[in-house]
Amino acid sequence: MAGIDYLERIPNNVDLAGNRRLQRALEEWQPRFLEWWRDMGPEGFQARDVYLRTAISVDAKGWAQFGYVKMPEYRWGIFLAEPEPGRTIPFGDHKGQPVWQEVPGEYRGTLRRLIVTQGDTEPASVEQQRHLGRTCPSVYDLRNIFQVNVEEGRHLWAMVYLLQAFFGRDGREEAEALLQRRSGDRDKPRILGAFNERTPHWLSYLMFTFFTDRDGKYQLASLAESGFDALSRTCRFMLTEEAHHLFIGETGVSRVVQRTCELMRQHRTDDVRKHGAIDLATIQRYLNFHYSVSLDLFGSEVSTNAANFYTMSLKGRFEETKKDDDHLLKSATYRVATVQGDRIVEADEPALPSLNERLRDDYIADCQRGVDRWNRIIREHGIAVELRLPHRAFHRAIGAFSEVRVSPEGHVLSQAEWDAGKPGWLPTEDDEAFVQSLMKPVTEPGKFAGWIAPPARGINGQPVDFQYVRPA
Ligand SMILES: [Fe+2]
Ligand SMILES: [Fe+2]
Repeated sequence: MAGIDYLERIPNNVDLAGNRRLQRALEEWQPRFLEWWRDMGPEGFQARDVYLRTAISVDAKGWAQFGYVKMPEYRWGIFLAEPEPGRTIPFGDHKGQPVWQEVPGEYRGTLRRLIVTQGDTEPASVEQQRHLGRTCPSVYDLRNIFQVNVEEGRHLWAMVYLLQAFFGRDGREEAEALLQRRSGDRDKPRILGAFNERTPHWLSYLMFTFFTDRDGKYQLASLAESGFDALSRTCRFMLTEEAHHLFIGETGVSRVVQRTCELMRQHRTDDVRKHGAIDLATIQRYLNFHYSVSLDLFGSEVSTNAANFYTMSLKGRFEETKKDDDHLLKSATYRVATVQGDRIVEADEPALPSLNERLRDDYIADCQRGVDRWNRIIREHGIAVELRLPHRAFHRAIGAFSEVRVSPEGHVLSQAEWDAGKPGWLPTEDDEAFVQSLMKPVTEPGKFAGWIAPPARGINGQPVDFQYVRPA
């Protein structure tokens, strides 16, 4: 069961051959997915040999196999984590009952919406990043972005499997629509705001992979607790792939910070722009932007939807089963920040409608751990600057803080104060032009663009100067 059948047209560990109707539906979807990949996947590199990992089993150890693949020939497929025998629903009204192998009729619409919303982010990020190959800072980074891209493609497969296998005609229609929407398209945009933003250059991509992919980790982790077992198992396997995306984001930004600090020391200046690197103030502005946009992805602080998802046993908390409470939360409270006049205050709210905020808190703590690691690099260079996560109310478009202007320190501002401060807090046109000016491709193995340090080690034990993407 753990093994994946690669003799099949669609590699899978769900016995697709035993379900002809589903197999046919997915085989009809497959060429349309490939068409989407050719149109919207990485531009200019479809014929290249890329050193990629492919899932060969869902076991904790040794699930990946590395080798050269042309991206359109990547073996996208359907891989679910192994079932946990005797698993029961860990939370909500159905707590303690055996997990569902089919979708409960009364939750069909809600569950479909949850799956579609998650599924929509997967192709969206591929679309956002499709132009970046042409300006790669190294062959190592080029390989890594393609690895992320093919796995986001596989995550789309994961969600489409659920739609096609469990939601009948509606599911088939949703699977089509996932290939029709386009990131940033005025008429058919992707569902969530952050996935319609541009990813114009590699700094933005690395920040996205740190902050926005991390939102994915928290969404998947709470869906992995679901009473609907197929969704839970799908998300559990996706999380193992997601970990590598987060590694790319965290080490990527680390390497940018590292390079900046090296040049600051070498030239005894904060202004490393003239030495072809990105100054810490600019890095901070991009951090502010990507962090605040990603915070919005968790939704409103107080949300009946969030309460319903939990009560229906569809979407749990992060690490639900490790928490020591009643897993019903009917009478529990949770501290939530909100605006009162010109101040931000905290108040106890009912726990169930506050679940978005609780997940956001878990996410914030995780982001902070990464920022701490970046700050350690700065400190090790003897530089007295700290990168900071801005206040959660800063630059928000969704929830209680969307109506107010708030500084990175958490002070409610007048419009005039905001306008005056904004160029110091968020990337300016000048920042964009400068960062763009650094985006010159470096394609010789082992060489790196001047604004980013080499990684500590290569991929899968290969040297840093390995030919990760073969020349045309
Ligand atoms: Fe993903
Ligand atoms: Fe990801």
